[in-house]
Amino acid sequence: MTDQANAKFTPRVFSGIQPSGNLTLGNYLGALKRFAQKQDEGIETIYCLVDLHAITVWQEPEALKRQTREAAAAFIVSGVDPAKSILFNQSQVSAHAEMAWLLNCVARIGWMYRMTQFKDKTQGKNAENSSLGLLAYPSLMAADILTYHATMVPVGEDQKQHLELTRDIAAKFNHDYGTEFFPIPTPLIEGAATRVMSLKDGTKKMSKSDPSDASRINLTDSADTIAKKFRKAVTDPEPLPESVDGLEARAEARNLVNIYAALADSTPADVIAEFGGKGFGVFKPALADLAVSKLEPISREMARLMADPAEIDRILGEGAARARAIAQPILEQALDLMGMVRSR
Ligand code: TYM
Repeated sequence: MTDQANAKFTPRVFSGIQPSGNLTLGNYLGALKRFAQKQDEGIETIYCLVDLHAITVWQEPEALKRQTREAAAAFIVSGVDPAKSILFNQSQVSAHAEMAWLLNCVARIGWMYRMTQFKDKTQGKNAENSSLGLLAYPSLMAADILTYHATMVPVGEDQKQHLELTRDIAAKFNHDYGTEFFPIPTPLIEGAATRVMSLKDGTKKMSKSDPSDASRINLTDSADTIAKKFRKAVTDPEPLPESVDGLEARAEARNLVNIYAALADSTPADVIAEFGGKGFGVFKPALADLAVSKLEPISREMARLMADPAEIDRILGEGAARARAIAQPILEQALDLMGMVRSR
């Protein structure tokens, strides 16, 4: 089935974030900010804190609860409105885990071993000693998406391979059971910040798991910390080029220009038009000011929301009930198609 065949499905956006620690500027620009934009385009949007994914590696139970609430707060302050979007945590909707089992029986083990994220996470370690969940992770991700018949999935560049796998799993299910039951979801990898890089190494992704805190901006960083991290960001000594092409071989400069463009809702060409020929002594303070003006209200509001965890739990509970209403009938149909007796 081609993307064209998705026409019979209601346009629906699904995406998720792992609540496994500090959210970064990469999560904000590559995901959260775009989630709010999709919602405001009037498409049906479903957003999930994927706590079942988080436990594929060890999580302190109390910390995981706090991080899940904190991630929910980050969605809300980034503009995801729980009245417009469905916002919930994965483990409250059991259809995800059940669908994942069904898809585990459709997907092939070899497909899982080929995932670069699995290879990266087990690199240099004893892969045999990693959790079985870590290997099956992409199948649960496919279940997240397909249990809602989602047609569009906004993500950063690093999730592209997982999305391709989701499409393969959907297509194999449809083929094996002679049906067009699942849409083939389209990845939405758009904008200037689909791959925000480390501030210390322009060839590495900005990541919450990088041992160096200076490599990333956390959404909970203070204004001073944000400014200091940008000031100390690794760059080359040249001024910014006069055209975007001049950024090609300059990973660090390109990264900072992309971050500026994404924060300012402009394009790298606009940024170069303003700062081309100027040195980092001028550009970095301007970037730091812009970042602080956009991010400081986020960390302030997150702290305010975190003061009332019961309200966050209420929002997630309500979101889960709405999510269940969509997911359960789709799960029931999948079970039926696969030959399970359903007593009504
Ligand atoms: P996670 O939690 O690692 O990241 C959440 C989202 O943030 C994006 N992102 C970035 N974008 C740009 N630059 C960066 N440096 C950067 N770092 C992270 C990610 O691409 C992602 O969009 N497997 C997923 C979670 C997931 C999911 C899903 C996503 C589970 N089920 C279903 C979509 C649909 C993950 O680990 O994302």
